[in-house]
Amino acid sequence: MTLTELENAKARSLEEIGAANDAAAVEALRVKYVGRNGLIPALVKGMKDVPKEERPAFGKAVQAWRAEAEAALQAKGAGAKGQGEAVDADLTMPGRWRSLGVKHPLTRVIEESAAIFGKLGFTVADGPELENRFNNFTALNTPPHHPSMDRSDTFWFGDDCLLRTQTSPVQIRTMMANKPPVRVICPGRTFRRDTTDATHSANFHQIEGLYVDCKDKPVSLADLKSVLAYFAKEMMGAGVTVRFRPHFFPFTEPSVEVDFSCHVCKGKGCNVCKQSGWIEVAGAGMVDPRVFKFVGYDPEEVSGYAFGFGVERIAMIKYGIPDIRWLYENDVRFLSQLG
Ligand code: PHE
Repeated sequence: MTLTELENAKARSLEEIGAANDAAAVEALRVKYVGRNGLIPALVKGMKDVPKEERPAFGKAVQAWRAEAEAALQAKGAGAKGQGEAVDADLTMPGRWRSLGVKHPLTRVIEESAAIFGKLGFTVADGPELENRFNNFTALNTPPHHPSMDRSDTFWFGDDCLLRTQTSPVQIRTMMANKPPVRVICPGRTFRRDTTDATHSANFHQIEGLYVDCKDKPVSLADLKSVLAYFAKEMMGAGVTVRFRPHFFPFTEPSVEVDFSCHVCKGKGCNVCKQSGWIEVAGAGMVDPRVFKFVGYDPEEVSGYAFGFGVERIAMIKYGIPDIRWLYENDVRFLSQLG
């Protein structure tokens, strides 16, 4: 474009702007002349191709055109330069997302469990991670020769202080602080000397449950089974059933180990349940009369059941997590998949 052509174009543009009589027309002219891809910016960009001697005069003329066009547009009510650029933006473009965190799978299992047992009248009890021998062992009818008392199985701090090996001491604390009936669950951390591998960790979580009632409302193993069956369905899905296998715990009599039917293969046998159709999830049983004596309850007057779930166990089967260590690495690439 020569200088003359530029002056002509400028005159034409000012005329057009002057003649524009609605906002849309003004906006169209703004885009045409001064907008990001308009004529004037294009001329500025093309300055390098203008012969050197003509460049100063040409540049000056372009700047004058821009100033006059903008003034004319502004007089017609077009946005100022800044606002004009903003209108150029694509308003349909999605905004910037701030990603929301998700709850850790262990937290989710604990919260969900509290909600499920809450519907059955259980409240949440709490106890310390640092326990004494009486609460963790003696009152739970655990004899001194029991392996879990051994230094190689338990984190001891002196003779009477240890990191609790189970959440069962909260049974003792709850009964010593309350008259029957009691109905509590207690989620929390537990500790055992253990080498870590895909299914073991020295620090893991349990959910303890305890229900004790008075003579007029005797508690039976059938009550225990129905509560755990309800929990299994709520937690793992409607088709899941429970199975009791005879077992031994010092503080329950009779004692059982609790299996859920495999929610993946529906009991047929698969990799998740190691082809057995069942997955072990808890220990349980009827509270041993000797435990009642230790906490000052009369075993002739009360009866009750207790159970203890492994939280990691439930999380791993519920979410299909093959390695317990993934639960402790806090790798967001893993955790965010479980949102
Ligand atoms: N405390 C037992 C364990 O850690 C589980 C359990 C709890 C068994 C309550 C019976 C009753 O293995």
